[in-house]
Amino acid sequence: MMAEYILEMKDIVKSFYGVTVLRGVNFGVRPGEVHVLLGENGAGKSTLMKILSGVYKADSGDILIDGKKADVRDPAHSLALGIGMVYQELSLVPEVSVVENIWLGNLPAGKMKFIDWNGAKKRTKQIFDDLGVDIDVNRKTSSYDLGIQQLIEIFRVISKEVKIVILDEPTSSLTDVEVEKLFRTIRKLKKQGISFVYITHKLEEVFEIGDRVTVLRDGSTIGNTIETIEEATEDGLVRMMVGRTIDEQYPKISSVTPEAILEARGLSDGKNFFDVSFTLHKGEVLGVAGLVGSGRSNLARALFGLRRLTDGEITYRGERYAPKNPSRAIENRFGLITKDRKDGLLLHMPIRTNICISKKEGLVKGGFCLRANEKEEAEKYMRLLNIDANSSSRKVRDLSGGNQQKVAVARWICNGTKLFIMDEPTRGVDVGARVEVYNLINEITGNGGAVLMISSDMPELLGISDNIMVMKRGRVTAMLESGECTQELILEKAAGSEMK
Ligand SMILES: Nc1ncnc2c1ncn2[C@@H]1O[C@H](COP(=O)(O)OP(=O)(O)OP(=O)(O)O)[C@@H](O)[C@H]1O
Ligand SMILES: [Mg+2]
Repeated sequence: MMAEYILEMKDIVKSFYGVTVLRGVNFGVRPGEVHVLLGENGAGKSTLMKILSGVYKADSGDILIDGKKADVRDPAHSLALGIGMVYQELSLVPEVSVVENIWLGNLPAGKMKFIDWNGAKKRTKQIFDDLGVDIDVNRKTSSYDLGIQQLIEIFRVISKEVKIVILDEPTSSLTDVEVEKLFRTIRKLKKQGISFVYITHKLEEVFEIGDRVTVLRDGSTIGNTIETIEEATEDGLVRMMVGRTIDEQYPKISSVTPEAILEARGLSDGKNFFDVSFTLHKGEVLGVAGLVGSGRSNLARALFGLRRLTDGEITYRGERYAPKNPSRAIENRFGLITKDRKDGLLLHMPIRTNICISKKEGLVKGGFCLRANEKEEAEKYMRLLNIDANSSSRKVRDLSGGNQQKVAVARWICNGTKLFIMDEPTRGVDVGARVEVYNLINEITGNGGAVLMISSDMPELLGISDNIMVMKRGRVTAMLESGECTQELILEKAAGSEMK
């Protein structure tokens, strides 16, 4: 008889440096189900899953696979037990080809133990074809956008013979069209009896793909596992996660004025975006919609001086502006939050250094950096953004994903930034903290700043932007007023015939 659970975790306890982060968690996964694991930033979701994948060892508790006790020694052992994990942070090697990444450490050996590259390529192509994704297996991985890289990472795990796939925020860099591809894949594999543990902060996904739901708060499960998704409501899940209701998920205060801060005319980088024109007004949030490959992240990088423009003109506060390099941008009170937070953070440094790094005025006196001030300043923002850490000297590396993102936001706010370029600002940020980020956006625009907000999260885009610019394959296809705009209209302008 098949066991009811293919996987059980019983009474799992884990602490780091004396701080308990999992307090006796029970968790069971059935064959062929998508089990959603929800919880605020820092609730312990990734830690629980890393225990399963052999990255961490539990202080106590049992793991049962197919009813048999398993002592997961390390990630390789976990994989051998049939557990595949896609981590929250990407782990691809950017400099090698897609096919090498897929088969890394798992190459099919041909005769005489030579690596069978042709076989590997064929199988990879087959996997992509089956799933209906257009990825060239020979291309260098880094030449693909983060969203595609995230898909590659997922396929790498799925291509192995696994019974349970753990997806830790798999859609945080994906747009709706890619999410649909991923969901199609999940549904297909479910039919073959493969189980999924699915971690997300996007509640609409829970209802679309989830079968059962478990909520973690502060290292403990809240209530019992919700046995059928029909029993759940969005409000109910939020209450379980954060312990209170959130009245307004998108608390937008419009401060837009007719005065232009930045005018872009005919911008091109000759490769990823072409002839892009828009005006960003004082107090405005201009949302940017588009699919993976629409060129919007490269546009953001070019505005900040991280990519060269080959064409076009920018007027900033009434004067011609050439975005030569990031230091110039920072001097001019530009701020950039990139999609990949590893880009911008000093992971091995304390929170306070990360927050205060670009703010030296007021903290430096007679050549000394005033550490006390730095601490005070950092703590102010930690409170404001509800950054979950007991001390500002904690290393950013040890924070949960969402809390790292909050540190990335805090640093610019702290620097008095006037023109904020945000690429997926709430990537991996939980429902409660998202509201805090939106409140900060309101504060920036209320003080005469402006925000260019790239987002793949449709409700966010519609809820927070004043206007929405839609891009498709590097070109602007629509400029819409968000009040008169719908998700369908945006998708149509962003994807058109590519939706099927
Ligand atoms: N290696 C580590 N050293 C010290 N503390 C850690 C370590 N890994 C995680 N923690 C702490 O354990 C707690 C749970 O973190 P975890 O990453 O599991 O949260 P999460 O639920 O995945 O959050 P998020 O939604 O932000 O990804 C957090 O307080 C985090 O700071
Ligand atoms: Mg996590």
